[in-house]
Amino acid sequence: MLCYTFMTIKFIHTYQGEIKVIKKSHLTKLFTIGALALSLAPVSIAAKREVKIGAVFPMTGPVATYGQESVNGIKLALKKINQEGKVSINLTVEDNKSEPQESANAVTKLINSDQVDAIIGSVASSNTLAGAPIAQTNKVPLLTPASTNEKVTMTGDYISRTCFTDAFQGVVMAKFAYENLKKRKMAIIIDNSSDYSKGLSKVFKKKFKELGGKLVSDEDFAYIQKDTDFRSLLRKIKRTKPDAIFLPGYYTEVGLILKQARQMGLNMPFLGGDGWDSPTLQKLAGAAVSGNYISSHFAPDDKDPRVQAFVKEYEAAYGQKPGVMAALGYDGILVMANAISNAKSTKRSDIQAAILATKGFVGVTGAITIDGNRNASKSAVVLETTPSGNVFNTKVNP
Ligand code: PHE
Repeated sequence: MLCYTFMTIKFIHTYQGEIKVIKKSHLTKLFTIGALALSLAPVSIAAKREVKIGAVFPMTGPVATYGQESVNGIKLALKKINQEGKVSINLTVEDNKSEPQESANAVTKLINSDQVDAIIGSVASSNTLAGAPIAQTNKVPLLTPASTNEKVTMTGDYISRTCFTDAFQGVVMAKFAYENLKKRKMAIIIDNSSDYSKGLSKVFKKKFKELGGKLVSDEDFAYIQKDTDFRSLLRKIKRTKPDAIFLPGYYTEVGLILKQARQMGLNMPFLGGDGWDSPTLQKLAGAAVSGNYISSHFAPDDKDPRVQAFVKEYEAAYGQKPGVMAALGYDGILVMANAISNAKSTKRSDIQAAILATKGFVGVTGAITIDGNRNASKSAVVLETTPSGNVFNTKVNP
């Protein structure tokens, strides 16, 4: 410390002395720049910042494609980050098995045993909601790239997200149903085990009714995660004759619901949110995915050159097109790395302050600005689901 202070003083002294010299001639100017560079060297070469980041993702269980894609996206971004040379990230991935309790355990482990500087994750809102209070209590920055439920960031000032919220996504789909598809009488099916599903359905209902739409019943039709037979529920809905159905669930159950619904002659459009967005939906539902629409964060067929460059880079690395979670994971870790390189130090409180200062960070899922509620205000895309993949329909700005 003494030595550092001494060098700083010496540097200022040299700098002030030489500023006058600069004006004299080109020759002395060149010499001065060299001398200045030398005198700057000991204090200005910033050491590469080394940090430990914990990642909590569903690598197994009903939403496993989200974890696998997220980690692929994050690893692709890490190559870039480590090459740039400002930040070196040591990543520890924990599998939460698509379960809230496992998510809480993973966060505890990352903080207590691995002593990570920050955490990225998770995907399903109920899982993030289970881990976030532990990160908050320990004042460890936790950034989710994908959890859209309103309550997530309300946990506290150490919890932020780089995606939009369901308050936005729900409105986008209610308007799409009413204005674009001209639907007037809808049924709603929710996943009662998911905070995401319950929150998103509330926003949708409120907006759809405000626009003038009607619901076939005030009560939602409900199932829970891991259910496989939806026929009695669908039979009840069929009797109410809706002209469209809002189904804010995750792809595993949604795939089965769509298939069973079409077999029972329910041929109206189904609408959903980002939770449908996985290639496994197409595998489970087959032809039954046709004619339905969802809101999401990213469209691989978006013409934006930044998106296309990412799609190419991802395909070269993994031999397949990136799904939405690959793009969200990629952007999430890039925002974190950017914050770490801008932070005053690698102290957790400084990293968190830098994450919250993120403004206009241009990612593959849009421009990311963290607002006063630690959410990102970003555009959404509406996609049509087809057996060969989701097709871009419209982009909606906040
Ligand atoms: N938004 C979903 C949730 O909060 C998670 C999700 C994000 C799913 C992106 C798919 C794609 O639970």
